[in-house]
Amino acid sequence: MKKIITVLLVVALLFSMAACAGTSAKNDKFVGISMPTQDLQRWNQDGANMKEKFEAAGYKVDLQYANNEVNTQVSQIENMISAGVKVLVIAAIDGKTLTQVLGNAKEAGIYVIAYDRLIMDTDAVSYYCTFDNYMVGTIQGQYIESSLKLADGGKYNIEITAGDPADNNALYFYQGAIDVLQKYIDSGVLTVVSGQMKFEEVATPAWSTETSQARMEAILASFYADGTQLDACLCSNDSTAKGVTNALASSYTGKYPIVTGQDCDVANTKDIIAGKQSMSIFKDTRTLAAQTVQMASDLLAGKTPEVNDTKSYDNGTGIIPTYLCAPVFADINNYKELLIDSGYYTADQLS
Ligand code: BGC
Repeated sequence: MKKIITVLLVVALLFSMAACAGTSAKNDKFVGISMPTQDLQRWNQDGANMKEKFEAAGYKVDLQYANNEVNTQVSQIENMISAGVKVLVIAAIDGKTLTQVLGNAKEAGIYVIAYDRLIMDTDAVSYYCTFDNYMVGTIQGQYIESSLKLADGGKYNIEITAGDPADNNALYFYQGAIDVLQKYIDSGVLTVVSGQMKFEEVATPAWSTETSQARMEAILASFYADGTQLDACLCSNDSTAKGVTNALASSYTGKYPIVTGQDCDVANTKDIIAGKQSMSIFKDTRTLAAQTVQMASDLLAGKTPEVNDTKSYDNGTGIIPTYLCAPVFADINNYKELLIDSGYYTADQLS
């Protein structure tokens, strides 16, 4: 009898040791993912892709969306820190508002990966994983350049709509495009008829469709109502492009301009198919998610994550080592191959 009890006790002990080991292994792989908003399709995809990939790699995941409210994002991150996450993956709403909360993360020994948007003014950020933001703008500028054949000369009119000044990416998108187009503006081939050209004049707080629509409607009413031709609308992303195409639909009757965008949101891809938007930058969020999961796993395993840029992204406390994924453009000629054949969307989603 004694023997049986001893055996049972040993078995129970082994079981509880195994359970403990299981728990601690799980907790060592606990990630908090803080996304800005569910309003835009892309962040839903980013969140879902990462959750799936982290879970497949054995992680416990706390995924939160902050409704584009800075205070909500800060308190969600605070909760993640208290819950014991080992890694934080954050796409900041406002890059300059997380200094204090990430100070707490650093104290708790948590790795912080800035996801898509750089987090400013904190030395708590370990790595940055994003698409090449300047290249996004370059490709948009080049699309306008080649569609209008600007290198051949001529006279064309353009309006510019940029992104959220609180988002560190927005200036990179704008600058990448302007660096392509500036020489045509200087030579008079391109004219910004509204005269609104500086980043602060063309920026769109919170990347809001309503704001970009209202601004474009005002521009069309003031500068194009007399029949002046508008040849191109440089829009930094799809939510701002949507505002611009809404404004064009309601307040412009001339020959339809080239309109750029970014993200290949379903609604905007449908606009490309319908001829209302000319192109969108395709940032395959599956690639970014996979790269980020790899980065987190390397960090937790004590390995140095792979980076390919160690000079572009200074967050105010020094250069943040970065992995840049490559953006490409989608338009009417290649969207099927890029978006449907690759399995990113089904044909049904775009019909
Ligand atoms: C992202 C874009 C997105 C924009 C608005 C940027 O930081 O890089 O892909 O369109 O935010 O959410």
